[in-house]
Amino acid sequence: MNEDSVYERVGGEDFFRRLVEGFYERVERDDILRPMYPEDLSESKRVLTLFLVQYWGGPGTYLEERGHPRLRMRHVPFRITKRARDAWLSAMMGSLEEARGDLSEDDFVEMREYFSMAATSLRNV
Ligand code: HEM
Repeated sequence: MNEDSVYERVGGEDFFRRLVEGFYERVERDDILRPMYPEDLSESKRVLTLFLVQYWGGPGTYLEERGHPRLRMRHVPFRITKRARDAWLSAMMGSLEEARGDLSEDDFVEMREYFSMAATSLRNV
């Protein structure tokens, strides 16, 4: 594991669990996003946590379980319009703002830029 990773600096898996929990609380209240996700969100939470942990420099459990992320391909089944992209990003940014106290300014900006860029790249309608 890279000692100098965002994962290490934010305090490991716990941070990402909280980030994902806050994200899905917002998904549950969002009329565009909620219908796109399964009824039971527990597996969605688990997989997104594993992905983010790995992306930000933590253990590679996501890769072991699911293979290469290929996020664009995995999102093809969902109609990601500009509105859906904006709703997704707003839910993630709301949760990130809430967890912001745990981050340095640099780490906060890096995560914000990543989510914004990645959400835009997954738009497919
Ligand atoms: C920064 C942008 C995003 C990231 C990092 C991300 C990440 C992920 C990951 C890791 C998965 C699980 C893939 C797997 O099966 O291994 C996933 C699933 C999914 N994503 Fe995204 N995603 C992003 C943006 C979006 C957007 C913009 C939407 C639509 C509004 C979306 C909707 C979904 C849905 C509906 C699933 C399936 C959930 C499930 O079946 O449990 N994602 N995403």
